[in-house]
Amino acid sequence: MYDANTIEIITIEVTSFCNARCPQCNRFDEKNNVIVKPKHLSLDVMKKINQDTMPNLKEVIFEGDTGDVLNHPDALEIARSFEWVDNVIFFTNASIRNPKFFESLAGLKNFSMVFSVDGLKDTNHMYRQNTNFDKIMANAQAFISAGGRATWKFIAFEHNQHQLEQARTLSQQMGFEKFWPVHSDRSWYHGSSWPVYNKGVYKFDLRPSTVVLEQAGEKLESDHTSLSQDISHKEKKLKLPITCPKHAQNEVYMDYDGNIIPCCMLSQDWWNNTFNTKNLFNLLKKGGARSINLNYHSVEEIFASDFYVSTLPQSLMQKPMPKCVHYCGQYQ
Ligand SMILES: C[S@@+](CC[C@H](N)C(=O)[O-])C[C@H]1O[C@@H](n2cnc3c(N)ncnc32)[C@H](O)[C@@H]1O
Ligand code: SF4
Ligand code: SF4
Repeated sequence: MYDANTIEIITIEVTSFCNARCPQCNRFDEKNNVIVKPKHLSLDVMKKINQDTMPNLKEVIFEGDTGDVLNHPDALEIARSFEWVDNVIFFTNASIRNPKFFESLAGLKNFSMVFSVDGLKDTNHMYRQNTNFDKIMANAQAFISAGGRATWKFIAFEHNQHQLEQARTLSQQMGFEKFWPVHSDRSWYHGSSWPVYNKGVYKFDLRPSTVVLEQAGEKLESDHTSLSQDISHKEKKLKLPITCPKHAQNEVYMDYDGNIIPCCMLSQDWWNNTFNTKNLFNLLKKGGARSINLNYHSVEEIFASDFYVSTLPQSLMQKPMPKCVHYCGQYQ
């Protein structure tokens, strides 16, 4: 099914460390306590992904479920080690490191950065808790002025949606190439609000945006109260086989622990006991959980593992994991 020679895109979560405390980020429980093991992926392990082992790689995205790439001590070398691919992209809250560091990143030819900034000086920290807007703006301006290509990604909530146009104008004045407004795609399973905590202390009730972000080609999807994890009704109407969209796009994901996994949705099953965890580890039983880990195996061995060669493709044909049904199923 998978072949390292055909992979074109990889998302790498190089660390589970983060300087921010965004309440809906998967690295926290509902009271904003960290639930992931703090760990950086070693540079040596990451460098096992190279021109020889993934020769068709075109894009490397440093994002993920749990951390922020600029928290990795080797962030600059990480970007430099992929100078041979077409695009290297860092996603960051940008409230870490200093303008000099951002200038050095701007010098890389194939490099661009997505700044996750959800508001202006008086609002960004409400979701991006523990960040400093002035510091973010100074870092962003240093990067852009030194020739760096930047996108401003803005998650709209009720408390910041009135600032969308102001932020767009500011992004243009500063020289951002793109302004990218999105809705929060998290399950608002408390109803229409999400009690925000910072290290266990209650702050306020976060509410979804109510504006339709037509410019972004998005429809309003803030009401995620219906995103139930009970998938029995979906299973009944499921069409088999499921076509894995990540596989179709020659895309894979690697987590901070070195696991090479099809997608970020499955990645969470390692450190969060989700409705899928048991099913994923059942599929990994035969080859062993380490069989897809780059700390213990080569890229070639991982794609020749039982999981990639047989159990995962068979599951998609006959008995898909609940997450595959939930996120990627087509129904009759
Ligand atoms: C977990 S973060 C890791 C990368 C980096 N730390 C950052 O925040 O950009 C991955 C992506 O999730 C997005 N994200 C965080 N909270 C979100 C939410 N409630 N809804 C939609 N996307 C969210 C971030 O904006 C980022 O693009
Ligand atoms: S900055 Fe990114 S990784 Fe860090 S807490 Fe926020 S969403 Fe999560
Ligand atoms: S949830 Fe399943 S089908 Fe969807 S991208 Fe992940 S592995 Fe592929």
